[in-house]
Amino acid sequence: MLHGKHILLGITGGIAAYKSAEIASRLRKLGAKISVVMTESATKFITPLTMRSISSGPVYTDMFAEPKTWNVEHIALAEAADLVLVAPASANTLAKMAFGLADNFLSTVLLAVQVPIFVAPAMNNAMYHHPATQENLKTLSERGIHIIGPDSGFQACGTEGVGRMSEPHVIVEEIENYFRSSAKSSVDLKGEKVLVTAGGTREMLDPVRYLGNLSSGKMGYAIARAFAEAGAEVTLVTAPTSLTPPPGVKTVQVVSAQEMQQEVLKLFDEQDIVIKAAAVADYRPAAFQEQKIKKTGQGLILELVQNPDILKSLGEKKTHQFIVGFAAETQNIIENGLAKMRKKKTDMLVVNDVTAEGAGFGSDTNIVSILFPDGQRMDLPQMSKLEVAKRLVQIITATRKKQQVRSD
Ligand SMILES: Cc1cc2nc3c(=O)[nH]c(=O)nc-3n(C[C@H](O)[C@H](O)[C@H](O)COP(=O)(O)O)c2cc1C
Repeated sequence: MLHGKHILLGITGGIAAYKSAEIASRLRKLGAKISVVMTESATKFITPLTMRSISSGPVYTDMFAEPKTWNVEHIALAEAADLVLVAPASANTLAKMAFGLADNFLSTVLLAVQVPIFVAPAMNNAMYHHPATQENLKTLSERGIHIIGPDSGFQACGTEGVGRMSEPHVIVEEIENYFRSSAKSSVDLKGEKVLVTAGGTREMLDPVRYLGNLSSGKMGYAIARAFAEAGAEVTLVTAPTSLTPPPGVKTVQVVSAQEMQQEVLKLFDEQDIVIKAAAVADYRPAAFQEQKIKKTGQGLILELVQNPDILKSLGEKKTHQFIVGFAAETQNIIENGLAKMRKKKTDMLVVNDVTAEGAGFGSDTNIVSILFPDGQRMDLPQMSKLEVAKRLVQIITATRKKQQVRSD
C-alpha cells in the first residue's frame, strides 16, 4: 500500500516515543521507505539504534553532524519526503512549529518541507488543555497540518484525561487513508493558470475609516493553496486579511473593490480558471474626505455610489476562462444563487448561508452548495475550508473536462 512512499518520521521527547518503534515497524511492513529525525529529548526515551534497526533507514539527530552525503541534509531530506509524520509530537515541538522556530534538526526540516505534515500530539492532560497548546494546535490546523488524536485515558504521569497519543495502528491507518484518497483524487494542473480573489475589500471614508465586511479570507486562501498543491500556477489577489499567503502562490495585495477590479482585469486574459471568493463591497463612499471627519454634534449622512460588478464584467469578457463565483447569502440561498449565476454568466457558483453555524465568515469550516448553469446542484457536508477547497479543485477540473468534451 505504501510502496514507493518516503515517510519522514519525527520523534520528540515524550513517554510515547517508545510507540514510535511500532509506528515505524507498521509503516515498513506496508512498504514505506522511512527516514527518522529525533530531537535530543527523544533520544532519552528511545535510542537511535532501536529506530535505525526497526525502520531500516537513516536516523538523524544532530543538525551539525558530519553529513552522510554532500547535500545540506535537512533540505535534501525535506525534498525527498512524500509525507512527514511527527509522533509523538511534544507540546514544545508543536509550539516551535506554530512559531516557525528552527533550532534543531526536526524543527528545521519541518520549516523546509512542502509536503503534507501529520502530527500526533502526546502530553499530559493539563499541558494539552493549556491555552497556549490549544492556540498552537489551532494555528497548525489552519495551516493545513493534519492533527491525529490525541486520545483520552490513563496517562503515564498517573492522571486520566485527554493527551495520550493515538494508538500506532490508528496513526498508520490515517496515513494509509491519506495516500489512498489522494491517489483516487489526484488532479494534475501543471501548466494551468488560476486566479483566486480573497478577503473583504475596504472602502475608505477618510484617512482612518473604512466601510468593510466580515470576510476573513480563509476560504479564498484555502482555494489558492489547494490549486497550488495540485500543480497550478496560482495568483491570489487579496484584500487585507491577517493570513499568510500559501507557499508557491503569487500574491497581489489590494484594498478597495476598484483596485481589485483593476488587478483582476489586468491578469484575466492569461488565466484558465478564475475563482472569485473575495467579499467585494457593493457600494463605496461617493467622496473620499482628505482629512479625518470631525464630530459636529449632529448626525452624519453618507452618500454611497455603486461599485463595479467584477464578476459580471468577467462573465462578459470571458473567452476560454472557467469562472467560479461565490455568493454569501443570508436567505433563500439557492434561489438567490441561481439568479446570480445566470445574471453573471459564471460556470459555477458556490453558495453558503453565512449565518449558519459552522459556515461562512471567520469560521474554519464551511457548508456549501455548488450550483451549475444546467440547474444541477451539489450539497457538500460541513468540512474544513481546506477540504472544501480540495473538493472544489476536483469538481472544477471534472466540470471543465466535461465542457471541453461537449465543445469538441
Ligand atoms: C519523563 C518525561 C516525560 C515527558 N513526557 C512528555 C510528553 O508526553 N509530552 C510532552 O509534550 N512533553 C513531555 N516531556 C517534556 C519534554 O521532554 C520537554 O518539554 C522537552 O523539552 C521536549 O523537547 P522536544 O520537543 O525537542 O522533543 C516529558 C519529560 C520527561 C522528563
